[in-house]
Amino acid sequence: MEDSRGSKKAGGGHKRITVIIGDGIGPEVIESALAVLDATGADLEIVPLEIGYKKWMRTGLAMLEEDLDTIKSTDCILFGAITTPPDPNYSSVLLRLRKELDLYANIRPFINEKLDFIIVRENTEGLYSGVEELAKDESRTVRIITRRNSKRIAEIACNLALSRRRLTIVHKSNVLKSDHLFLSTCREVAKMRGVPHEEMLVDTAAYNLVVRPERFDVLVTTNLFGDIISDVAAGIVGSLGLCASANIGDRFALFEPIHGSAPDIAGLGISNPIGAIRSAAMMMKWFGENEIAIRIEEAVKQSLNRGIMTPDLGGNCSTSEVTKAIINHLRA
Ligand code: NAI
Ligand code: MG
Repeated sequence: MEDSRGSKKAGGGHKRITVIIGDGIGPEVIESALAVLDATGADLEIVPLEIGYKKWMRTGLAMLEEDLDTIKSTDCILFGAITTPPDPNYSSVLLRLRKELDLYANIRPFINEKLDFIIVRENTEGLYSGVEELAKDESRTVRIITRRNSKRIAEIACNLALSRRRLTIVHKSNVLKSDHLFLSTCREVAKMRGVPHEEMLVDTAAYNLVVRPERFDVLVTTNLFGDIISDVAAGIVGSLGLCASANIGDRFALFEPIHGSAPDIAGLGISNPIGAIRSAAMMMKWFGENEIAIRIEEAVKQSLNRGIMTPDLGGNCSTSEVTKAIINHLRA
């Protein structure tokens, strides 16, 4: 069941979560997130599932068909990050999960002491439709935009914007004719819902994100644009390691930090766990456990305010020191 914010008001109580730690720093940051969840006293049953590079090395497949059955038997997924296998024929497990589970909305909040905005990215079509023709001298990728998906992503964005200031519809319809459909559908939904909105070309949005990010509130955009401007936004708030995301459908959801497996720092104990911890908070919110979500968010804020930071933020704390500090604030 959905409430107006796209959260799953399944009521309190026992939840089963598929936990995919993944590769590189994935296991480190998910361990932190699970420790924080544990400290909240939330009633969660963890169903561990191996998916990713290590499985691909062993079996030639990053995910097995039966893994999908395991996933579907649980309430949602908490995901670390996967190292992309070096095989040109490998097709992304994450893209498959997003499509297979119809996780059409990717919600990415960007928060620091000065900024607070959300990018809502369409997650199943656009240039990531997977419809491609590859040949030696010419290759094509089909950009699919549908009214149905534009409408439902706009609905999610409007739900978020209603309790905030305004919606920015980010597009490139001056060049990409397929974006006329996206833009006009988002505009219609915003008008119908009475949400104040503006329209902005994606290149202008990228520029504005860098020079005056505080002007933004909720941005809604197509798949590739959302992917790229999210990483710009992550840089602006201070580090990829701070940022969380929720991949949401009508019945299922996947929560993950927006960073990858960061092999350059894996195993050093210095990865920033906050993106994963905030993803866990988003998960609790989706379960309807708002109080727990807010407590986690507050503990993260307080710990950051005290300067407890990993090196990506200019600090010298370890992953476990940051995690412990957050847990101490939770218990205080
Ligand atoms: P990345 O996001 O893993 O790392 C980019 C840079 O940010 C690196 O310098 C890394 O050290 C730093 N960084 C990322 N997360 C951090 C954290 N929590 N704390 C501190 N520093 C952090 O992107 P990259 O290096 O391009 O990709 C590495 C692998 O991850 C690739 O195989 C890529 O395909 C995969 N990837 C997987 C994703 C997923 O599973 N959702 C998303 C993005 C990339
Ligand atoms: Mg990305």
